[in-house]
Amino acid sequence: MGFCPRCNSSEGLEVVSKSESKVAAPRAVPLPEVRESVTDRVPVGMGEIDRVLGGGLVPGGVVLVGGEPGVGKSTLLTQVAGAMSGGSHTVLIATAEESAEQVGLRAQRLGITSHDVLLIAEDDVDAVIASATEVNPTLLIVDSIQTVAATEVGGAPGSVAQVRECSARLIRFAKDRGIATVLVGHVTKDGGIAGPKLLEHMVDVVLYMEGETDRGFRTLHSLKNRFGATHLVGLFEMAEEGLAEVPDPSAVFLADWQGSVPGTVIYPAMQGKRSVLVEIQALVSQSGLPQPRRSVRGIETARVHQILAVLDRHADLRFSDRDVYVNVVGGIRLTEPAADLAVALALASSLVNQPLGALAAWGEVGLTGELRAVPHDKRRREEAARLGVQGIVSPANDGPSRIRGALGQSGLVLANAEAPLSSRFSE
Ligand code: TYD
Ligand code: MG
Repeated sequence: MGFCPRCNSSEGLEVVSKSESKVAAPRAVPLPEVRESVTDRVPVGMGEIDRVLGGGLVPGGVVLVGGEPGVGKSTLLTQVAGAMSGGSHTVLIATAEESAEQVGLRAQRLGITSHDVLLIAEDDVDAVIASATEVNPTLLIVDSIQTVAATEVGGAPGSVAQVRECSARLIRFAKDRGIATVLVGHVTKDGGIAGPKLLEHMVDVVLYMEGETDRGFRTLHSLKNRFGATHLVGLFEMAEEGLAEVPDPSAVFLADWQGSVPGTVIYPAMQGKRSVLVEIQALVSQSGLPQPRRSVRGIETARVHQILAVLDRHADLRFSDRDVYVNVVGGIRLTEPAADLAVALALASSLVNQPLGALAAWGEVGLTGELRAVPHDKRRREEAARLGVQGIVSPANDGPSRIRGALGQSGLVLANAEAPLSSRFSE
């Protein structure tokens, strides 16, 4: 340019040579020589949490626990601290949200007496790190990441810059020292934890806590896990003395199930290696809207649209002038295509207003009306049988291979089963 863009002087420029890089080359290691280091997991000592984590905490691993205010994050983590402490394990809780007295009261209520759970009330992230360096705990809990701050970074605690910097420091510290770390994160309006996806990318494990406030049940989902499977769910019940594990979720989810009404089908979902029965409900009603309503909870809306199209084209069931509601009871979110058939049967049952009774169904519904078998058929059968569900529709073995066959096998009587010409093309 010939002049300095800052001071406009045309003299002060001089040529400098690029300095040699001073970074020492790290030693590259052949892949087979890289030893797995995540084998030394530390079980938390609470079965449901260990299961969702994939066996326990990993030293140096950073877990983000997200959820809405009041859902029970602090309660759960205080219990984790109590369960884990003792023996050679110390747990350090850093609270930036509540006073030490508040946390102390909660611990008292939860019956935690261990002297190996230590507490600091501190909102300076470097002070937290300094304290953790001194204590050298097995587990560090920071409650919450939105309320700690790094002094020299501008902006209020909870701003994107602060959250990024504080988590980066804590994560670096956790990895350097091999200290398992749990960060509590509040959910923002758009459903993300502390800024859009920012934190979720940085940490190793993301757990999400949700509540069914009316019944006191809480679920803990694994959304991301670098050390184990995702989409696992742990179930808890909020009681006077904290969160209690629910050992038989199928029984809980089906507690209010009423088989004698149309529009409900039981679906044995897979949670890792375990099958959990959930109820899928559908309500199909006459619509007065130019564009009928499609309201879906607990399952991907696009899949429901696809199932409706398949029912229309391959089973002559018309939903085009109906409002459609689909709900997975119990607040579980289903991601497997295996739920397709249960959704289809629930929709059909509501449309023709015939109850299906105690019927469990699973299988993937394809666009040409075909049914595809899905993994874990045996385990799903066993779980249904365990809770006394006799009726089963599944495309495995010699089950139905098309959606129309499945509708027939479910016991629904379809008025137009014989008639229309189109069915000859679709079957
Ligand atoms: P909290 O853990 O503070 O929620 P979060 O940290 O996610 O904001 O507690 C949530 C609720 O749980 C609170 O309203 C009180 C209730 N609670 C119980 O019912 N039983 C208990 O033993 C405790 C500790 C809390
Ligand atoms: Mg809290």
